[in-house]
Amino acid sequence: MPAPVSEPKILVADGWTDYALLDSGDGWKLERVGPYRFARPEPQALWRAQAPPDQWKVDARFSPASDEAEEMGRWRMERPIPENWPVAYGALRFHARCTPFRHLGFFPEQSVHWTWAADRLSPGAQVLNLFGYTGVASLAAAAAGAAVTHVDASKKAIAFARQNQELAGLADKPIRWIVDDALAFVKREARRGKRYDGIILDPPKFGRGPNGETWKLEEHLAALLEALPNILVEPNQRPTFVIATLYALRLSHVALARTLAAALEGLGGAVEAGEMALAEDGGRLLPTALFARWVRASDAR
Ligand SMILES: C[S@@+](CC[C@H](N)C(=O)[O-])C[C@H]1O[C@@H](n2cnc3c(N)ncnc32)[C@H](O)[C@@H]1O
Repeated sequence: MPAPVSEPKILVADGWTDYALLDSGDGWKLERVGPYRFARPEPQALWRAQAPPDQWKVDARFSPASDEAEEMGRWRMERPIPENWPVAYGALRFHARCTPFRHLGFFPEQSVHWTWAADRLSPGAQVLNLFGYTGVASLAAAAAGAAVTHVDASKKAIAFARQNQELAGLADKPIRWIVDDALAFVKREARRGKRYDGIILDPPKFGRGPNGETWKLEEHLAALLEALPNILVEPNQRPTFVIATLYALRLSHVALARTLAAALEGLGGAVEAGEMALAEDGGRLLPTALFARWVRASDAR
């Protein structure tokens, strides 16, 4: 029987001082990251903003490239902004920066998973972070005592994540930074008999591995999830978990939860799924991504 799936949840990021969602609507969102205010397009913001987005006081505004689908574009600076500037989530420090991919070097909504994973980790636990990009999830797991394997297809992304490790003061922590295709890496780890206590994945809709491997989420996600049981530890004194998040897709968290539960059939545990969101002052929510999490409690007798 696949693992049971609980009632859908909305996970709202909190505990931020260096990030705030100030307003949203009319297809835009206004955010503060450290001392700077940014306006960027937000397709989910269908409602009316509190103030017209073109009247928001900002330090930079993102203007998408002509081809919407490309998510690419450039930031129009209203005042000089450094290439990188330090921000923190609790004690965890990392770089923020204006990227041509419309984001600001980290994903604040992901903090719900950083803390959830850290609460289930103990010294010596093995964590695998697939499609790891900025590496903040890897740093949060390392700060919780885990030995982390961080995989991303992009050398640039790995270099940025390593800069974050330096800034976080976690240079002495056991983190393996690996440039590889996620699916190929998981299959190789299975052949090596490598096992993990926790696996985190945040795959893009489409991507390329370093040797030209093609990643198409709709085609490859099930195969990737089905390969995970071969690299998950046997039940032991620690919780075992898988965290999956998906962005910008016409998919439902029910589909993600069902695919994860089916892939981990027979491993026990349970799945929870739903949406992640950011809250403006006053609690108005901006949805950001879908998630599904599987956890098997420790079998400490
Ligand atoms: C949405 S981002 C992940 C963001 C991450 N959760 C974070 O908080 O920084 C997706 C990442 O997947 C990487 N990627 C794309 N195709 C890949 C593949 N085939 N194998 C491994 N990584 C891939 C990209 O380089 C990008 O860094």
